[in-house]
Amino acid sequence: MYRESLILIISFFAVSFAGCRGTGDAVTFAVGGAPNEIEFWEKLVNEFTRQTGIKVIILRQPTDTDQRRQGLVISLKAGKSDPDVFLMDVAWVAQFGASEWLEPLDDYIKKENLNLDDFFNIVNLVDRYKDRLIALPVYIDAGILYYRKDLLKKYGYSEPPETWGEFVDCALKIQKSMRKIKPNFYGFLWQGAQYEGLVCNWLEFAASNGGGIILKEGKIKLNLPSNVKALQFMFDLIHTYKISPPNTFTEMKEEEVRISFQRGDALFERNWPYAWALHQSEDSYVKGKVDIAPLPHFASGKSVSTLGGWHIGISKYSDAKSKAFKFLKFVVSYTTQKKLALKLGWNPGRKDVYNDQEVLERLPHLAKLKSVFENALPRPNLPYYTQISQVLQHYINAALSGKLTPEVALSRAEKEAQNVIKRYERK
Ligand code: GLC
Repeated sequence: MYRESLILIISFFAVSFAGCRGTGDAVTFAVGGAPNEIEFWEKLVNEFTRQTGIKVIILRQPTDTDQRRQGLVISLKAGKSDPDVFLMDVAWVAQFGASEWLEPLDDYIKKENLNLDDFFNIVNLVDRYKDRLIALPVYIDAGILYYRKDLLKKYGYSEPPETWGEFVDCALKIQKSMRKIKPNFYGFLWQGAQYEGLVCNWLEFAASNGGGIILKEGKIKLNLPSNVKALQFMFDLIHTYKISPPNTFTEMKEEEVRISFQRGDALFERNWPYAWALHQSEDSYVKGKVDIAPLPHFASGKSVSTLGGWHIGISKYSDAKSKAFKFLKFVVSYTTQKKLALKLGWNPGRKDVYNDQEVLERLPHLAKLKSVFENALPRPNLPYYTQISQVLQHYINAALSGKLTPEVALSRAEKEAQNVIKRYERK
């Protein structure tokens, strides 16, 4: 008995000590995303190790951006040396910058001769904090409309609808016919669960009606007639027209939407560009049957996509900073960015890849998206944006579930968001 306990105690210390020693010479890289994305990162990491002899350990994160952020915040708040390097949602780069969790990259960039002009101007808009460069863009996202071109054609439509009014008519008509063959067929899938993706979707509906998040001199405006109308429309998609499924506000995030559309269960889908490559994969039911278009808009508004995307940065607490920078440089290199575009359908953060002949030939839809990307609407680039977003997530979702009317939901959201700003400004 005594002997057994002793062995247990010794092995406990051995394991704990190994844990304290960290990852030694290796670089740890935290990244999440759809399963095919993680698989691809694994390949890339192996290639990097072959080229440089530097080992990289992948810390797998979930797909949901809020969960990815929380995972990183726990390590960074505790000043842990791992992960050394990670991807950050454009929505939280400002928070990480202001928290001083990121290693400034300027000196490394100079030393390694990296040319910042190769990247989109987003570098200057998002990746700087107090004039120091804290991150670089890996890929840029914007919300787009995926549609079944085969079904539109079959039902007599030559183009996807441009206004939300025409969109509802078209979805209702096709859904009704398709239900005869597929009882669970829906007109439109989008992200309505309570998380960051919901705010991105709401912003698109609201801004396509001339609304959005209005921030001026420390005052926030959310309860605007244009925003109320857009939120009412989102509610109607689920409960009145019933062209979006009832689990839209409980379950629908990017992957739920993507998988259901890919199974052939819907006519329209709102998603990010990553879904394109997956829809075209060998085992996809919708392969060759899909096309993309800008999102529809309200009659008096114009199409708006939320600007998304992911940026790479190095932890200030990393104990392997120069190796981590070598990895960062590899990720934003022309060759890797081209691979990410070709294999994952991502829109590179580097401008020069868009002129690549092979990329242009194999991804003709990138050219179609150019104006969508150029006009994409950023979320407020504020250190406390994620707190405002949490307020919005809660109230928009409450309106979608019917717990609150759109007007009450937005007026409460406005009040609480104003308190977030006050609290932050008092600090
Ligand atoms: C995508 C976007 C990101 C956004 C997230 C919401 O990952 O790139 O910016 O916040 O979706 O779910």
